[in-house]
Amino acid sequence: MSGSILVTGGAGYIGSHTTVALLERGFDVVIADDLSNSSEESIERVKALTGRHVDFEEVDLTDIDALRKVFASYPISGAIHFAGLKAVGESVEQPLRYYRNNLVSTMNLLDVMAEHEAWDLVFSSSATVYGDPEVLPIPEEAKTGATNPYGRTKLMIEEICQDAAAADPRWRISLLRYFNPVGAHASGDIGEDPTGHPNNLVPFVMQVAVGRRDKVMVFGDDYDTADGTGVRDYIHVLDLAAGHIAALDHLEDGCDVFNLGTGNGASVLDIIQTTAEVSGQEIPYEVAPRRAGDIATSLADPTRANEKLEWRADRGLEVMLRDAWKWQSKNPWGFNPPPEAD
Ligand code: NAD
Ligand code: UFG
Repeated sequence: MSGSILVTGGAGYIGSHTTVALLERGFDVVIADDLSNSSEESIERVKALTGRHVDFEEVDLTDIDALRKVFASYPISGAIHFAGLKAVGESVEQPLRYYRNNLVSTMNLLDVMAEHEAWDLVFSSSATVYGDPEVLPIPEEAKTGATNPYGRTKLMIEEICQDAAAADPRWRISLLRYFNPVGAHASGDIGEDPTGHPNNLVPFVMQVAVGRRDKVMVFGDDYDTADGTGVRDYIHVLDLAAGHIAALDHLEDGCDVFNLGTGNGASVLDIIQTTAEVSGQEIPYEVAPRRAGDIATSLADPTRANEKLEWRADRGLEVMLRDAWKWQSKNPWGFNPPPEAD
């Protein structure tokens, strides 16, 4: 390996798990994160888990001079770009903050990478770019059309990357459209630690299982699905991390796009029931109105990644939820101390 991999947003949920996978594969890693939605403790845990050193720079990627200093300090040959704001509802309330943070960060990164002739880039896109899909399972060629500012930042960044690669043939870019990442490292030492009220189902269900919240609100039971609740393609974060390594290994000239999902669907009630089974905890729930902007079903067609990246997501729903529970039960308050200890 010729240089280090810059992991932007590496202190966060998916970035920390991918950093473990990179270190285990022998890559040297530099993390750049402003800790706006994460804790430095996750990096300490990654070091302890792997027995490897990780360089960490606390920088905001919208600050191009700070980013230039990072590139001047390390021999960076490529980047995996996780850094970004990701809460759909918040993006509707604060659209300019989302556009500025996600777009400016990415344009700065592309500029500084080009200045340093680091042409290898893997970007965290999202299944949200498909909006309400017309075809299931969804292939990469499906029509795109985001329904909120967060999703539009992902679509715009994909287009920026395509344009950059069309303008300079030295770029080798992979756009990864994640479906619904869940689960945690099997050690239970790193995992998803949302600040405040979790927006996503699995962290919410885990907080109910561990006793931090009373009940799960099921957003709608009148969808056109087998049990009436929303169906998603949940993917274990370790399979997702392996997908990034496969993407790096298979980078080609230009800009390519891949779905990272399993192709299997689970409903909200499946998640609640399986979590109750793997945790041995009761998970009370109540049916509530549909959440604005939600779709009935999202399912990946992962054939392209299976074939071109030689990658497949193997872990099933029980393993995903067992590992999420291990993390949550070992760390009821995530990376923070319990409130009593304050
Ligand atoms: P996360 O919030 O845990 O990680 C993102 C990290 O980026 C955080 O550590 C945050 O502090 C950092 N960050 C944000 N803005 C920054 C800036 N300007 N400069 C430096 N650091 C900054 O989120 P995650 O779940 O790990 O998601 C990682 C990426 O994957 C994001 O781009 C997200 O949009 C995308 N994604 C996530 C999901 C999901 O369900 N978790 C699904 C699809 C795509
Ligand atoms: N849900 C509930 N109760 C909750 C939270 C969610 O019933 O408290 C339901 C939703 O209605 C949906 C399913 O659980 O049917 C999954 O919802 P999530 O919020 O966990 O996930 P989404 O599919 O809505 O969206 C997530 C990310 C997006 C990303 C998308 C695809 O939040 O940013 O996955 O990757 F784009």
